Amino acid sequence: MTEIPEHLLKRAAQRRAAMTGGDAPADAPADAAPAAGAPAGDAPAAAAAPAKKAPSPLPTLDDEPAKVVPDIPVVAAAKSRKRIPYWATALLASLPLWAFMYYYSIAEPPAEATGALAEGEAVYLQCQACHGGASGAGGAAGAQLNNGHVLETFEDPLTMIHWIAYGSLGGGAHADGTYSPINRPQLTGQMPGWAVSPSPLSAEEIAAVTIYIREGLSGGVPADDPNFNSEVFDADPAAAAAIAQEVIDLGATGEPDVSGIAAAETE
Ligand code: HEC
Repeated sequence: MTEIPEHLLKRAAQRRAAMTGGDAPADAPADAAPAAGAPAGDAPAAAAAPAKKAPSPLPTLDDEPAKVVPDIPVVAAAKSRKRIPYWATALLASLPLWAFMYYYSIAEPPAEATGALAEGEAVYLQCQACHGGASGAGGAAGAQLNNGHVLETFEDPLTMIHWIAYGSLGGGAHADGTYSPINRPQLTGQMPGWAVSPSPLSAEEIAAVTIYIREGLSGGVPADDPNFNSEVFDADPAAAAAIAQEVIDLGATGEPDVSGIAAAETE
């Protein structure tokens, strides 16, 4: 067995005492002093000093303070960003509804009928019952209006305006019982005078329905009636109405003379 030198054993004992706070051997020799960091001769005191210290318990994992790992920039930015308030969610959810309302409030409203043909078609609803429905094909109660019939009866639209304004009931027929410049025989029914009826049409309405029947039902074209047609009306409805009013002002005569009106056809 190998003999451990005495001085090494002493030094080990002193070390152990320093580490654990236990008593160092009282007879620590002078040569052990350097290990305790004390001058020679003070060895026992130096060795006793660590013994006063309470043994500090060894640190455990539980005692380890939680490590604070700093967030990377994007995470930090996301955390510090202001959150959207809850009421904003409801607001955002209603955006599509708002978009619809906005769209429909600025979108064109369903076009109201304008123009001679559209206005005249609306007026014509009051004439359909006697004149064979929407097509104006005629029937037992009223004359045919479509397929060029009115163009033949009234070559000048102004004479047609006069007939519609007074009809047979309002004094627009001839004394012999015929009507129109070509002396059409009356039917068994009676044609109301629309300027003199209990609920009269306005001059503009009579103008519009005249143009609608000629161009919309009877196949006429604006060029046939250069002074009074849908283009003249659409360019200036009030001017067209003024022409109709001039005709109405001729009065309830069966033989209206439209030649004094500027819009009358000359040929
Ligand atoms: C109550 C039935 C009745 C209604 C409503 C009526 N008409 Fe007539 N219409 C007649 C009769 C009947 C004649 C044929 C003339 C006659 O016998 O008096 C006629 C003839 C006409 C003619 C002549 C056609 C041709 O070529 O000989 C025109 C134009 C006309 N009507 C337009 C109208 C217009 C426009 C309206 C509506 C604003 C209308 N009528 C409403 C009964 C009616």
